[in-house]
Parts: sequence; structure tokens; C-alpha cells
Amino acid sequence: MSKKTFYITTPIYYPSGKLTIGNSYTTVAADTIARYKRMQGYDVMFLTGTDEHGQKIEKKAQQAGMSPQQYVDEIVEGIIDLWKLLDISYDRFIRTTYDYHQKAVQKIFKKLYDNGDIYKGYYDGLYCTPCEAFWTETQLIDSKCPDCGREVTSAREEAYFFRLSKYADKLIKLYEDNPGFIEPQSRKNEMINNFIKPGLEDLCVSRTSFKWGVPVSFDEKHVVYVWIDALSNYITALGYENEAYDDFEKYWPCDVHLVGKDILRFHTIIWPAMLMSLGLPTPKKVFGHGWLLLDGDKMSKSKGNVVDPVILSERYSVDAVRYYLLRDIPFGADSNFSNEGLINRINSDLANDLGNLVSRTVAMISKYFDGTLPDASESGEHDEELISLAVSVKESVEANLDSLQFSSALAEIFRLVSRSNKYIDETMPWVLAKDESKKTRLATVLYNLCESIRIISVLIAPFMPGTSPKIQEQISAVGDAITWESAGKWGVLPRTVKVTSGSPLFPRIDVEKELIELQNQSEAPKQEEKPAPAPKDEVDQISIDDFAKVSLIAAQVLECERVEKSDKLLRLIVDDGTSKRQVVSGIAKWYTPEDLVGKKIMLVSNLKPAKLRGVESCGMILSADCSEDDVKVIFLDDSIPNGAKIR
Ligand code: ME8
Ligand code: MG
Repeated sequence: MSKKTFYITTPIYYPSGKLTIGNSYTTVAADTIARYKRMQGYDVMFLTGTDEHGQKIEKKAQQAGMSPQQYVDEIVEGIIDLWKLLDISYDRFIRTTYDYHQKAVQKIFKKLYDNGDIYKGYYDGLYCTPCEAFWTETQLIDSKCPDCGREVTSAREEAYFFRLSKYADKLIKLYEDNPGFIEPQSRKNEMINNFIKPGLEDLCVSRTSFKWGVPVSFDEKHVVYVWIDALSNYITALGYENEAYDDFEKYWPCDVHLVGKDILRFHTIIWPAMLMSLGLPTPKKVFGHGWLLLDGDKMSKSKGNVVDPVILSERYSVDAVRYYLLRDIPFGADSNFSNEGLINRINSDLANDLGNLVSRTVAMISKYFDGTLPDASESGEHDEELISLAVSVKESVEANLDSLQFSSALAEIFRLVSRSNKYIDETMPWVLAKDESKKTRLATVLYNLCESIRIISVLIAPFMPGTSPKIQEQISAVGDAITWESAGKWGVLPRTVKVTSGSPLFPRIDVEKELIELQNQSEAPKQEEKPAPAPKDEVDQISIDDFAKVSLIAAQVLECERVEKSDKLLRLIVDDGTSKRQVVSGIAKWYTPEDLVGKKIMLVSNLKPAKLRGVESCGMILSADCSEDDVKVIFLDDSIPNGAKIR
């Protein structure tokens, strides 16, 4: 018999800048479900990718002086690296610039046209370029885009329209017949009351004012509206209207589209209407999760207040970041992201509760039994309570994961972690160890702890795929002892468990020290990105004494190299006349290391040291802002000695 299938998707991301911890949130959540379903034995298709067309990307590429294709290629590479880093186990990655997708989109557009759902007309309206969304006057809030609050521009152009209005009743019927179609439930009412009830207008689905998109096959001056292009990815990636893949029949309709609430409307109104028009089944579920806020504000690539998932993962481990995202933030609601919250979770749940449970148990088996438990079975007080909880957790985890309640699922698992720690306190193995006649009981207690740890290790696998095998290695759990099935059973490990201790799973973090470090890291990019040109007029006057506070000296560049993972920073070693010092400077865009080595420069030598991208900088090199995008270092004459004071 063939396996049951499970198809899950993330949104396809705009390669318009670095992805944020917010984008990573959807992807980590989808990955967790995909891993869970695979462990349960499903044939899973987990799709993610990038949404590369549209005016916004075209403009960004122009600003960067690149072709749109070059521009997206570079960013998409970074996105794929990020998913690797975060242990994202996608089965397929789609780029909307892939040829097979573009041709399929043309066919989809033509099908909609041929069956009368697309017609030609004129578009008179308002457009928000950053959001790639058309709006009507009534939808604006304070005359601004209701999604992002920015200016909209008016546009009149010949355009094709999709008869969305025709689908209003069918959409309401879809929601009524399938109560689980939109989740959380509260968002369903929002869709009906805010969008469908006030009247659905036909949707403008082509543009002529820019080129970066899929051309309409029968009218090439038009490009297909980026959302029609993007939404189609969920079926073209399976081979719909193309030859690249052929598992459309196998996986469609999709089990769940995971999306942020900002794009729920596209997925629950436009997308099902398109599918109905194509005569295809609609997805089984669209789940709109909430926003990760940063100090109460929306985090976004275009606003610049992002939290870098790479920095966080490198500092705390990928699994710690995954755990925090899924544990602290109830899926569905908006929630604040905070570094302090992350560090506290690591210390309390991961280092203290989980980490200690494993290390204490393993250490006791090493100490009392030389690393191998003897075959023993002497049950006692508290066993029953531990065992009955342990074998029941799997079921509650399943119930929670099936309804995408990641936080509750983890809370259930960590209830068992706490119960196991309590079991250690109750049974006091160190007391049993003092009495030779209690050795069998001691072995049983430690066996029970290993079993409990084994179950925990299996259940956390979808959430923390790196930590799970590390734990299993320590208690030699392999094969049938680590299947999903086995998490509901007791007594699966052979009674003579062999343990090997490993390094601490999650080292404790000094909260205060760490918060300062992080602050430095997150301030660094601001400094690099804005070499704020001093305003030409109206500079505050200072006294000669103020100026004297700044120590300016001549120095010579001895060594220079790029700072890893930064395209702006150079690390220089300079001779300041008395010693060598390290300086980091945001000039990599304009100078290569070769340009600088040997040169004499002006150095602010008494600047407080700061860390940029984790690299310490002692001082600052002076340069001139020649224009917004041109910086020139001020070089000095070779005859000026290193250390000479500049006044
Ligand atoms: O919307 N908190 O792409 P996108 C939570 N290309 N989730 C967040 C978030 C935050 N702060 N920031 C982003 C697009 N997201 C389209 C999708 S699908 C056919 C086309 C999540 O790169 C959120 O789920 O702007 C959002 O929907 C998703 O990232 C995609 O962001
Ligand atoms: Mg967005």
C-alpha cells in the first residue's frame, strides 16, 4: 500500500533583502511539521522558495546597479544558505524565475482568460509599490497603504482583470463547508467581514509599466501580476502545466499553507478563486500566524529593524533559536521577540531542565555503574507516575502539532522533563548508591530516567533536529528505540543501557554580559549602513577645548582583510607610532585590502573600542563622504611619521 501523503508549504519569500527572524519563523514552523509527519510515516512534500518578480525587485536591482536576475541570484543564494543553517529540510525549492514555472504561469493565465475569468480593461487606482498591492480609495487608512502605512501612487493603465467578484458567494460557501479552511478561526471572520462582505472587486492582474515579470503570452507588453505568478508556485512546483515534475496528482490539494497574517487574504480569497476557475480542488487549510514584533513594532526587511537569524544561531545554536521561536510565541498570535526572552529560555528550559536531566543521569550511570546499567528491575515509589506521564505525552504532542500549536506541544514535552527531574529529587539516587543492598533499585531508577530521556529525545526531534541525536547518542538509543512509534512505549531500551557522556547540550549564558554583546552587534550594522554625512550647514560650533578631546594621529596600514560575512567591513592592522592596533572600517564597498596596505591614513586614536560584527575596533579611520554613495579615505603624505599628532 502506498504511504499517505502530506503537502505543506511556506510562503515563497521576496529576495529583496536579508531574511529576518520573522521569515525564519514561518519556515521553522513548517519544517517542524514536515519532520513530524515524516516521522509518523507520511510521504511528505515540503515546499519553499522565492518570489522574485515585481516592481519592487526591479527597483532594488536598479538601485544596486545590477540586472534583476543578478540581483535576485545573489540574494537567493543567501536564503538557501540560511535554510541550511537553520536545518530546514525542504523537499523542493521553487524560484519563480525558473523557466518551467514561468511557462506554466503563462498557461495558467491563458486558461483563466479562455474560460472568461480574465478580461481587458483600464486600471484607475492606487498602488503600493513596496507591498505590490492595488488599493481602492476606501481601503486606504489616512490616505496611506493599509498594510504598511506608506504612500500609494495613482496609476491608470490598460490592464487585464480577474473576475474575483464572481467568486464571493463561492468563497463564503467554501469557508462554511470547510470549517478548518482558515485558521485561526478569528481570521476567518476578518476575511469575511473586512473583505468579502463589503464587496469583492475584480482584481487587476497585469501591469504594463515595468518589465520584470512573466509576460502575458498573448499580449506581451503586459506582465502577470506578481501575486498570480507567486500563488501559482504551489502547483507549478508539483508539475502543474509543466514537465519539470509530475507529482501534482499525488500531492494536490495541499494539506496546509502556512502564511503570515499579512498575506492571508491573498491565500484565502484570490488563491481559492483562481483554483476554482481552473477547476482544481482548493487547499485543505490555510493557517495565518501572527507577527513577531520587535519592541512592539513590525519587523520587516523594508523597515530595516530586523533581527539577524544568522547571528542568533551562531551565538546560541540553531536548536536554541528554533526552540525559542516555537515555544515562546503562540502560533497565531502576535508576540514580542526579545533577546532577553531567548536567553532566559535557553538558561531555564534548555540548559537547566533538559541539559541537566541528561547530564545528571548519564553522570550517575558512569559513576555508579561504570557506564553500563546492569539488568535490574525493582520498581518502587514514584515509578508509576513517571511512566504513565511519559507514555502519554506522545498523544498530546500529536494533538497539538496536528492543530499547529507548537508552544503547547513543547510545553507537554517539557512537563515530562520536569517530572523526570522531580523523580531524581524524589528517588535520590545518591542516597541509594551508598547502600549496597539498594543497587538494583538504583539501577531501575536510572533505567527509568533513560527511558524517559529517550522518549523526550524522540518527541523533540521535529523541533530540535540537532539536539535529539546528541541525546540519543549519550544513552545509545538506536533503531526501533528512536522511532516516533516508540515514544508511546515504555521499556524499549535494552535494560543494560550503555552511556557515554557528551559536552553540555546547552551551556548556560550570562544574561547581562550577553545582552550588552548583542546590543553591540545590532548597533554595528546601523553604523555601517549610514556613514551619516555631516550636514553642510548648521553644524554646532565647538570650542578649541572640545576639539582637543579628539586625538587625531597619522598611522600606516600594515595588514587588511575583509570581515567575514560582511560586505561592508574591512579589518585593518595599523601602526600608530607606538604599537599595532586593530581598526574596523565600513569601506569595503570602495576599497580592496590591496588599495590600503602601506598607505598612511588619519586615525581617531582615542575612540572607545567597539565591536563590529564581533570584531573589535580600536579607533576610526577618517574618510570623506563625497556623495551619498561614494566615500574616499583621506590619505596622508608618505613622509609623515606614524603617530604624528594632527591638529
Ligand atoms: O509576503 N513575523 O514574502 P515576504 C512573522 N512573497 N512572520 C513574518 C515576519 C514577522 N515579523 N516577517 C515576515 C511575501 N514574516 C510574498 C509571499 S506566497 C505565494 C508570496 C513571514 O518575504 C510572514 O509569514 O514578504 C510573511 O507572510 C512571510 O514571512 C513572507 O514574507
Ligand atoms: Mg511581506
